Amino acid sequence: MRSLLPFTLLCLLLDAHAVHALRFPVSTRTSAGRRSASGSLGARSSDTLLPVKNTQNSEYITNITLGGREIPVLLDTGSSDLWVTGDVPDVTDLGVSESLSYAVGTASGDVNTATLQFGNYTVDNQAFLLVKNISSFSVNIAAEGYDGLIGLGPNTGSVIRDKVGDSRGDSVLDRIFQQNTSSSNYMTVLLNRLGDPSSPSQGQMSITEIIPGYENITNMAKLTVEKVHKLTDLDQHWQVYTDKNGVIGPDGQPIEVDSIVPSAPDGQLVVVFDSGYTLPQVPRAMSDAIYGRVQGAEYNSEVGVWTIPCTQMLNISFQFGGVNYPISPLDTSSSEFDMINAAGETVCVGAFQPISSAFSLLGEYDIILGMSFLRNVYALFDYGNFVEDTSSDLGDPFIKLLPTTNLTAAHSAFVQVRLSGVDTTGSSSQWLLPSSEMQHSPETEAEKKAQYEEYVLSRWPEIFVGCLAFVLIVIGIIIWRCCVRRKRARAKAAGLLPTSAKDGSGAQPYRQLADPSTATLVDMQSMEGKHAEYARGSYASR
Ligand SMILES: *[C@@H]1O[C@H](CO)[C@@H](O)[C@H](O)[C@H]1NC(C)=O
Ligand SMILES: *[C@@H]1O[C@H](CO)[C@@H](O)[C@H](O)[C@H]1NC(C)=O
Ligand SMILES: *[C@@H]1O[C@H](CO)[C@@H](O)[C@H](O)[C@H]1NC(C)=O
Ligand SMILES: *[C@@H]1O[C@H](CO)[C@@H](O)[C@H](O)[C@H]1NC(C)=O
Ligand SMILES: *[C@@H]1O[C@H](CO)[C@@H](O)[C@H](O)[C@H]1NC(C)=O
Ligand SMILES: *[C@@H]1O[C@H](CO)[C@@H](O)[C@H](O)[C@H]1NC(C)=O
Ligand SMILES: *[C@@H]1O[C@H](CO)[C@@H](O)[C@H](O)[C@H]1NC(C)=O
Repeated sequence: MRSLLPFTLLCLLLDAHAVHALRFPVSTRTSAGRRSASGSLGARSSDTLLPVKNTQNSEYITNITLGGREIPVLLDTGSSDLWVTGDVPDVTDLGVSESLSYAVGTASGDVNTATLQFGNYTVDNQAFLLVKNISSFSVNIAAEGYDGLIGLGPNTGSVIRDKVGDSRGDSVLDRIFQQNTSSSNYMTVLLNRLGDPSSPSQGQMSITEIIPGYENITNMAKLTVEKVHKLTDLDQHWQVYTDKNGVIGPDGQPIEVDSIVPSAPDGQLVVVFDSGYTLPQVPRAMSDAIYGRVQGAEYNSEVGVWTIPCTQMLNISFQFGGVNYPISPLDTSSSEFDMINAAGETVCVGAFQPISSAFSLLGEYDIILGMSFLRNVYALFDYGNFVEDTSSDLGDPFIKLLPTTNLTAAHSAFVQVRLSGVDTTGSSSQWLLPSSEMQHSPETEAEKKAQYEEYVLSRWPEIFVGCLAFVLIVIGIIIWRCCVRRKRARAKAAGLLPTSAKDGSGAQPYRQLADPSTATLVDMQSMEGKHAEYARGSYASR
């Protein structure tokens, strides 16, 4: 039983990588027309406002300068490290190697330091991973428009910081926040939607400044970041609770799904905001409730997504801090993937994908909200006391979200983009099927296993206590039997007991109890074995 402990640690590490993973379940379409439409529009820019380039609504990219070289990097709120490829001038190689795993491949190389500029901030000796060998990447990142990745997650999640062991290894934003102890520790992100006339023309990010026109975000409720109470804080993410019954389905009714997080209040779910995910990951039952009642919906088991007719308008929304955040119907289903259904028709992907490979084995979160959600809000991330060595803003970290989707405007945009201007959203072909005719997607074997393991892991303290109690009872019974036997021996010696009761009652109860106890221990060991196998398997395939 004791081996559960180090094993759990291993899980945490693997899991941390899993959540950081970029997940592009199907490759995005590449067309020159779309490509040139991205990022080229006039940006409102000031010293601390950074333009954010959008590659096909799948990747959001901004520039940093390292050692004098301007480098486009992917924005990732789900991880905390910086890595870049190619040559960087004026670096110091710390001689420490490291590997970071993502869905697209493994970024490995040496940790280096260089002078970094981000917006108008300059940081000396910023540690980062210089990746020389990109042959394991499954996508051509340069063609997608980036040469690295900047992690905007909590510093505690930084692998480089762990390796370097001093402040040079702190994450980029931490280093920036540490410089000016009189300002607040926050960063904001506004993502745009390509091909939508109602969306801002340019995405932006800002550091300790609100983007002009979005000042109302300061009036929004503070969403406290749920601290992960676990053995290590390496897997702390930007995560908050939804409101009770806070996910509203296409029929206007809440989608009720139980949280797998043991401490979650009834009816609330734990959500991680992760800009490294193109498609949000939701519990399978929730994905089924969103898409399973659409006429013509099909579940593609190979890719693990629902597909629906691109003309189907679906309204869903999320509730946080008493505020409703509607999702543009252009985000509920995505036309960015080349997908065809069984009949060979081009279809759209249900963007709220059933969570499977990113499933939280340790029961830390239920949902990962990626880009298809984040395009509908202006988001502020306040790092508060996530930042070490700062004398100001030492409050609890929080998130504020300002809704940016106006459903009336979003409806018109959908009609214009998907329905060639003719509003057929009221026609009977768009009606949702009755609940009784809802389709359900099949759970994969790996998922069933993961869910079972999550169940056992989340309850291992109880199992431990149970086993301990059991062992104590067994010991108690042994002692009791010994005493009884001795007493009986004495009694027998005194001629007070019939001889027939002697043998049967002597050892029998002890052996009966002992056998199931051995079985329990063996079971647990073999289950651990399976679990480790699964974890390794999924790690290797990433
Ligand atoms: C990033 O830098 C490259 C190269 O200097 C430049 O071409 C590109 O426009 C920049 N992108 C942004 C979003 O500033
Ligand atoms: C960055 O620019 C802002 C606004 O122009 C200014 O307030 C701030 O002091 C600058 N920060 C640094 C580190 O230069
Ligand atoms: C790059 O990494 C791959 C495995 O990911 C390896 O096979 C190859 O030899 C490496 N190339 C160099 C030049 O190190
Ligand atoms: C520090 O932040 C404050 C408040 O945002 C700002 O007024 C000041 O100019 C900043 N100082 C430096 C050196 O950047
Ligand atoms: C800002 O919020 C207030 C109150 O929440 C609201 O009355 C006002 O219309 C909002 N302004 C904008 C520009 O959205
Ligand atoms: C979605 O919401 C918009 C705006 O409230 C509304 O016009 C439209 O009818 C709704 N569509 C559906 C299918 O509920
Ligand atoms: C939403 O959009 C519609 C149509 O574009 C506009 O008339 C309305 O004022 C907008 N509502 C808000 C609250 O901005």
